[in-house]
Amino acid sequence: MTRIAVIPGDGIGKEVAEEGALLLQELSEIRGLGFELRHFDYGADRYLRDGTTLPKEQIEEFRRDYRAILFGAVGDPRVPDGRHAREILLALRFELDLYVNLRPVKLWADRFTPLRGKGTKEIDMVFFRENTEGVYVDVGGTFKQGTPDEVAVNEDVNTRKGVERICRAALEYARKKGVRTVWMSDKSNAMRHAGGLWQRVWKELAAEYPDLELRHMYVDVLAMQMVLRPEMFKVVVTNNLFGDILTDLGAGIAGGLGFAASANLHPGKIGLFEPVHGSAPDIAGQGKANPIATFLTCALMLEHLGCEEEARIVERAVEAAVAENCLTPDAGGDKTTRQVGDFVRAQVRRMATT
Ligand code: NAD
Ligand code: IPM
Ligand code: MN
Repeated sequence: MTRIAVIPGDGIGKEVAEEGALLLQELSEIRGLGFELRHFDYGADRYLRDGTTLPKEQIEEFRRDYRAILFGAVGDPRVPDGRHAREILLALRFELDLYVNLRPVKLWADRFTPLRGKGTKEIDMVFFRENTEGVYVDVGGTFKQGTPDEVAVNEDVNTRKGVERICRAALEYARKKGVRTVWMSDKSNAMRHAGGLWQRVWKELAAEYPDLELRHMYVDVLAMQMVLRPEMFKVVVTNNLFGDILTDLGAGIAGGLGFAASANLHPGKIGLFEPVHGSAPDIAGQGKANPIATFLTCALMLEHLGCEEEARIVERAVEAAVAENCLTPDAGGDKTTRQVGDFVRAQVRRMATT
């Protein structure tokens, strides 16, 4: 038996996580995968009702008894400081030490990109976003708050262990996939302490990976080149904040957030799987959310669970939805979240049973 936790969260997170859970359930039944899905109601409603964000014991239970978490999204206008979102999502990433945030940027059909002259061949890369350090650690403070002399500090924490392990993860992935050139991106020209560490680690690793070409590009230039020459990039490794921003840029050139999937990993441990997008309060509850990012996220989860064949089936089902334009409005279709979900699951059923 493989236990999978489902945390739908807020807004469209609830809608897309439900589609993903139905897909996993169905695949499990058809192929005898033995998944046991259990839903958890962490999110804004629960937080506003009884103050619970994510109990420590819950994290322990996940660590002990679960192989994967399917996460929708968190964020709710009724919680303007986003406290519950940080205490749920960031706590899972940090407490479970999921240092790899793997985010594919893959264009599924030429018509989805706003980039002229670029298509599926050019836009196909994977980001390795450091996921446990950087400015996300919440080290800092405020001073003289509410006065004209107010000071606010957020420290950027980078450890040798943290930098090295995410760089290695990207390099090992490239080796496995037969990709020769790996890009590391930082801002070492302005941030010399953190950047210096990334630079030193990268140079040291170059000696250990003579079969690969370890390149470097400053993050500002990389952002531009992703738009002008996306074909340059197959594997990119960067820090937490730059990875956050670059992967939304990646979503922008690859059909939008409705297609962007992610996996939070630490080899050998439970994985956290979530679409890159947020809770999208502007379209929540209207059946407009694109569930494809979540289906592709399920494919990443299936890979993590060793179900490679099933992962490919999900991707082929997504290809079929794209080919038939059975898509939500953000992707140029006129279908609802549920209609796309039903279509993709029907494809999966057909491919998984034959
Ligand atoms: P967002 O990703 O929720 O939405 C940005 C834009 O993209 C919106 O116009 C939205 O309608 C559209 N969009 C996003 N996902 C879509 C989908 N699947 N289908 C169709 N359209 C989609 O970003 P935001 O509006 O800046 O954030 C809303 C809330 O979500 C905030 O509270 C934010 O902190 C939170 N957030 C959470 C996560 C997460 O849980 N992983 C990620 C990002 C943002
Ligand atoms: C993401 C989100 C989160 C992040 C927010 C909600 C804290 O934007 O998963 O990309 O910045 O990591
Ligand atoms: Mn983000």
